Amino acid sequence: MNKKRDFLSIWDLSKNEIENLIKRAIDLKSGADKNKCPLIGKSIGLFFEKPSTRTRVSFEVGIYQLGGQSIYLNPKEIQLGRGESIADTARVLSRYLNGIVLRTFSHSSIEEFAAHAAVPVINGLSDLHHPCQALADIMTIIEKKGRLKGIRLAYIGDGNNVANSLIEAAALTGMNIAIACPEGYEPDPDVLDRARGSKDVGDIIILRNPKEAAGMADVIYTDVWISMGQEEEAEKKKSKFRNYQINSQLLQCAKKDVIILHCLPAHRGEEITDEVMDSPNSAVFDQAENRLHTEKALLEFLIR
Ligand code: CP
Ligand code: NVA
Repeated sequence: MNKKRDFLSIWDLSKNEIENLIKRAIDLKSGADKNKCPLIGKSIGLFFEKPSTRTRVSFEVGIYQLGGQSIYLNPKEIQLGRGESIADTARVLSRYLNGIVLRTFSHSSIEEFAAHAAVPVINGLSDLHHPCQALADIMTIIEKKGRLKGIRLAYIGDGNNVANSLIEAAALTGMNIAIACPEGYEPDPDVLDRARGSKDVGDIIILRNPKEAAGMADVIYTDVWISMGQEEEAEKKKSKFRNYQINSQLLQCAKKDVIILHCLPAHRGEEITDEVMDSPNSAVFDQAENRLHTEKALLEFLIR
């Protein structure tokens, strides 16, 4: 029997696998194999500790389009919420399901679940990583810029889960990435170390000045300043990130054909303004759509 494959971080796929997966996602987007149902007779669980619009809906729709069934599991409505262990939950659900997507606070919860599950586990966001988002992001960059190697990506904002997975995706695919963030809000140090050791790595730099990052960029990316679970830090973070907004003034420092990405949800007026979100440079809704296509390609690849 083949060993199951998980997707907990970008490193769970090789460069070659990511390239093939993006090619497949582009094919699926163009309508290829519409009537092929690789998930027929299969059930995929979606266990979410945090809210979600894109991840939940794109997975549910993607699973349906591939012929499978999705089952949404709210932690408050299953026995895990009353003290059943993660390990036992993983063992039991593996007897029914063919795969499971998890969105958790702690990344170690996903790792623990995956260690005890007999079926593929997909990270639908943890406090440390958001690898499914990074797949859609690189697909969008390929669609808009035609390549990844040598592309200059400026991530302006919080060095959070989204930034961590983007750094890993950049390191694997040869993109250069500049992170502009306030002191104390850098990406995870282990993520940075591992990425810098990757064979195909380009530049990975941390800057304080968002204009410096934007000036060099082919792609400008941002995310919310207050991630899910950080609500108590909201006022402090808003004041720290005040100068890190993606607005028209910042865009004036950038190349004319720069594309703007945001994983969404956007907090318009905080990390990004309306005029940038709605500008011709913005590819945020294509990026959101690409969640569906990349996740279908991922499910096809992992669920056997
Ligand atoms: N980008 C993203 O993961 O969005 P949701 O939180 O709506 O799933
Ligand atoms: N960094 C954000 C991403 C939301 C998709 C969060 O974790 O809330």
